[in-house]
Amino acid sequence: MVRRRIPRWHELRPYLRTGPIHLSPVERRLASAATVWDLRAAAKRHVPRAVFDYADWAAETETSLRRSRDAYARIEFVPSVLRDVSDVDTTTTILGRPSALPIVFAPTGFTRLMHHDGEPAVGRVAGRVGIPYALSTLGTTSPEDLAAATPDTNRWFQLYIWNDRDAVRELVRRARASGYNALVLTVDTPVAGARLRDVHNGFTIPPTLSVRTVLDIALHPGWWFNLLTTEPLRFAVFTETEGTVADLINRVFDPTITVADLAWIRDDWDGPIVVKGIQTVEDACLVVDAGADAIVVSNHGGRQLDRAPTPLEQLPPIAEAVGERAEVYVDGGILTGADVVAAVARGARAALVGRAYLYGLMAGGERGVDRAATILGKELVRTMQLLGVRRVSELGPDRVRLRDR
Ligand SMILES: Cc1cc2nc3c(=O)[nH]c(=O)nc-3n(C[C@H](O)[C@H](O)[C@H](O)COP(=O)(O)O)c2cc1C
Repeated sequence: MVRRRIPRWHELRPYLRTGPIHLSPVERRLASAATVWDLRAAAKRHVPRAVFDYADWAAETETSLRRSRDAYARIEFVPSVLRDVSDVDTTTTILGRPSALPIVFAPTGFTRLMHHDGEPAVGRVAGRVGIPYALSTLGTTSPEDLAAATPDTNRWFQLYIWNDRDAVRELVRRARASGYNALVLTVDTPVAGARLRDVHNGFTIPPTLSVRTVLDIALHPGWWFNLLTTEPLRFAVFTETEGTVADLINRVFDPTITVADLAWIRDDWDGPIVVKGIQTVEDACLVVDAGADAIVVSNHGGRQLDRAPTPLEQLPPIAEAVGERAEVYVDGGILTGADVVAAVARGARAALVGRAYLYGLMAGGERGVDRAATILGKELVRTMQLLGVRRVSELGPDRVRLRDR
């Protein structure tokens, strides 16, 4: 028989404590996000379907992206215990400059679509955190405007080569004049990957007004209000942009480029050149022999060739073949700080993340990007501590195994 009694006030008090009260809906949304997956779920609710799909999507059957994420799920860490991990140092150097984390915010086109604050918001967060950020040729903020908004950020400029070479050279010159520290040449986009979700959603630039759009305005009035009452949404570099992003790429990009083009780019750019979109040992050696200072093992987040090689699997042989001749980064499917630890342990100097910060941007603008960076940073520190590792340089292949499943 249980003997019952009336609780005293001082016994009840600990149960009645409330957490921090967030008055703004954005703060509330972000505070309840414990992972980047939570930010993705918030983003999905918060922006129009076609916008979310544009960022979230991968090409064709989306197998490349699924396999990239699955590879991180197959990681098995090898921890050491009884190490003093009270003081973990996550800093590293990337292209000779200090970086607070082995992370780079990847170039993503059309960023102001996700949130009207766009690239300056992403760049400011990168600056505060102390990591590099690459502005895309398909950005919605000009190189000069981003430089003015983020003077202290380690800014890189991502270059696509299109058929008007004089215009390309002029863009490279503008990036140099605005103080960008590295040029990222993306080489996996001779033509656009098949963007089926965009086709199904009827997604065009600028967004077209259809019955579906009008319904969407009713469901996401905040996003539409911001779109219509801030600077018009357009590419900063390209003016003639009828149709979908894929239409623009197929009309304008130059599929004739070869490794020989690195030579004239080198003439116009005296800083480091990063070649992004390398997927085989052979191509890694080809571009490093041609003078690349760094490469990104990447299949464009699964947005170009479907069923492409899986970056995390390709990374060790490529890193070994390149050796000390160039820095090797990796991207695709990274959504946690533990994924970054795994990438570094398998041979990457740094990991690029794209969607991880875009989910934050869609969920809550600059504060959402902040939240994504905080989550990734905390996960990275915790994983290093649980692994018994104090420094990024201690992360090596002995720390990870890739299981068959
Ligand atoms: C919405 C979106 C736009 C992108 N635009 C570009 C781009 O303009 N140039 C580029 O080199 N890569 C672009 N990428 C690829 C990213 O730089 C990066 O390789 C990819 O996002 C990494 O995969 P993750 O999103 O799973 O992190 C884009 C990716 C996304 C999601």
